[in-house]
Amino acid sequence: MNPLKKKTLSPKFSELLEKLNKASEKKQMSLLLDHPWDEPTENAWLKKRENISIYGTPYYDLASEEERRLLSVYETGSWWYTFIVFENLVSEYYMKIVNHGSLKRFPEVVKYIHHFCKEEIVHAMVFRKAMNYFNISPFPMPLNLKEIYSHNASMSEFPLKAIYLTILIEWLAENNAMEDCNSKDISKLSRAVAVEHHKEEARHIEWGKNMIREFIDVVPEFLDEAKQITAPMLRSMLDMSVSSIMVYSRVGFKDKAFRNYKDLIPTVLHSENRKRINSKIMAPMMRYFVEIGVCTTGNMPVWKENGFEKDAEDAISYFTKKSESEKDIDNVMDKKFE
Ligand SMILES: [Fe+2]
Ligand SMILES: [Fe+2]
Repeated sequence: MNPLKKKTLSPKFSELLEKLNKASEKKQMSLLLDHPWDEPTENAWLKKRENISIYGTPYYDLASEEERRLLSVYETGSWWYTFIVFENLVSEYYMKIVNHGSLKRFPEVVKYIHHFCKEEIVHAMVFRKAMNYFNISPFPMPLNLKEIYSHNASMSEFPLKAIYLTILIEWLAENNAMEDCNSKDISKLSRAVAVEHHKEEARHIEWGKNMIREFIDVVPEFLDEAKQITAPMLRSMLDMSVSSIMVYSRVGFKDKAFRNYKDLIPTVLHSENRKRINSKIMAPMMRYFVEIGVCTTGNMPVWKENGFEKDAEDAISYFTKKSESEKDIDNVMDKKFE
């Protein structure tokens, strides 16, 4: 018999669902009220200087100060646009799951998905409003995002894989946005867009992480597949966030070195500064992969091939030192804001 048919939710997960549902009912992001929409836009930096892709490379010195600032505007704008595309896809897909009835045996889960979708719809509107505010027009649609739902949106089975891919994107995107924008040195509006988003995303991510913990044993094929697909997917997402030819051409750098993409792209992708930021983004995610068995000493080759060898080793060694009393590590909802 299908193990899902006998599945009941654990008390720990039921408690979390209650907490999440209450939190979403209590405070919801408002399109009108939660951001400083009257902030001036002139000369604004939308992300931290040290997080623009050319920082720490020879290209930084070849760019004028205004070009560096514009890079902060278009790199952030392109990230906002990626959020819009992704959040539209995810709310459409999750509502389809709810309507199809795949999760109807778990009404508290369905209740939270309703909050989740409503929150994503508002987030996409906020990102769109912020793009208009800074006069940033849309970018081409990232193909890897489109494929995630068109390839994995099967309605006939329990949607654990699609939930997993969704939290991977949300978690990576959130860690990246908070690294880039949670700073007093940048536009107040850009910072508020990141921080207000994070408050609701933290709940989405914890829900997704716990959906996997809860259902991993009743979807037997999930783990083997996750062990193969996770590392290449994260590599492509991380690199997409820093290497957009469209962004470079919009800035319109004067120096012709910026038009030689064959040299420019690998330089920014492999800079020491970028590696440092990527490791910070990856660290809590890698610990989760070790915890659920997606990263093991046995599948190290796939992590190594995708450039995550050191991150994987650090996460594995964290668990050899961790004491039993530290239970819920890296809970995204515990993050404090300045
Ligand atoms: Fe969101
Ligand atoms: Fe989300």
